[in-house]
Amino acid sequence: MTARDASDLARRVLEEVQRAVVGKQEALTLVLAAVLAKGHVLLEDFPGLGKTLAARSFAQALGLEFTRAQFTPDLLPADLTGSFVYDQRAGRFEFRRGPVFTGLLLADEINRTPPKTQAALLEAMQERQVTVEGETFPLAAPFHVLATANPIEYEGTYPLPEAQLDRFLMRVSFGYPSADQEYDVVGRRLARRREEIELDPVTDAAGLLAVQEAVERVEVDESVGRYCVALAAATRAHPQVLTGASPRGSIALVLTARGWALLHGRDYVVPEDVKAVARAALAHRITVKPELWMTDASGTSVVAAVLGQVPTPTTLETPTAGLRP
Ligand SMILES: Nc1ncnc2c1ncn2[C@@H]1O[C@H](COP(=O)(O)OP(=O)(O)O)[C@@H](O)[C@H]1O
Ligand SMILES: [Mg+2]
Repeated sequence: MTARDASDLARRVLEEVQRAVVGKQEALTLVLAAVLAKGHVLLEDFPGLGKTLAARSFAQALGLEFTRAQFTPDLLPADLTGSFVYDQRAGRFEFRRGPVFTGLLLADEINRTPPKTQAALLEAMQERQVTVEGETFPLAAPFHVLATANPIEYEGTYPLPEAQLDRFLMRVSFGYPSADQEYDVVGRRLARRREEIELDPVTDAAGLLAVQEAVERVEVDESVGRYCVALAAATRAHPQVLTGASPRGSIALVLTARGWALLHGRDYVVPEDVKAVARAALAHRITVKPELWMTDASGTSVVAAVLGQVPTPTTLETPTAGLRP
């Protein structure tokens, strides 16, 4: 698939999702950029802001199989991965697949479930396979997790450890809608006369894989790659920071910037793409010093600060590879 076709297809997916989700343009673009970059996304925000709706809408528009797992306090790893059950008629144990065997998994409220089950999810995300009783079962491709978590202040029963947060390519928050947008949400619901909206699939699993291939070919100039490394390094050197972004953060920055660039009609990354994704790609990888936990200092404020400090590479040579003016 050419970069132009991939870009057009990805933009149609976004438009289709926006038939269901009002506003949230930036958050939705970030989520899609991460999926195009083959990643998993953590949606962190208060309940009722459209996270579940967004996840379901992406699954429909991308033409992926969709499952939802509610991470209750009593959810067990096997409830997620599946387990062997005895088949009376066949007279033997059969593997019954759990909800991770899907195209897009909505892992809802992952901070309500104990660490063992969180670890099972993270393992499936990372390895793209599950091992049960010594037998390994590969997951579908593509396989993406959109996980939701309530903000820690709200109900952080089992906050994810940093080492696990790191496995999400991005953390995106939705935020409250403006009054006009909220009225639009209400108005559309009334006009529809029912709860759900059915979206048309714009593509399918094979189509998404092809777009992801195109993203792998989006060019990153050395100056832009070095800019990503400098930003990640600056989070480590920041005086308020206990642990900053690792090289995994630099990679996340480059990869998501490529997805963002393609969504903006380019097959090369410019520094503005990096800036646009930096907060979502890096903030959750940063822990501020414990003595600052009661202050406004956060991963987000640190990313904002380093974006202000680290010199932006000068614009690349007049691009010849642009897809659109
Ligand atoms: N931006 C939005 N656009 C359209 N509907 C929305 C939006 N935000 C909230 N809603 C509606 O509000 C309700 C709650 O949304 P939901 O996706 O379940 O929230 P969450 O998963 O964040 O708790 C749903 O009926 C949804 O349709
Ligand atoms: Mg929800």
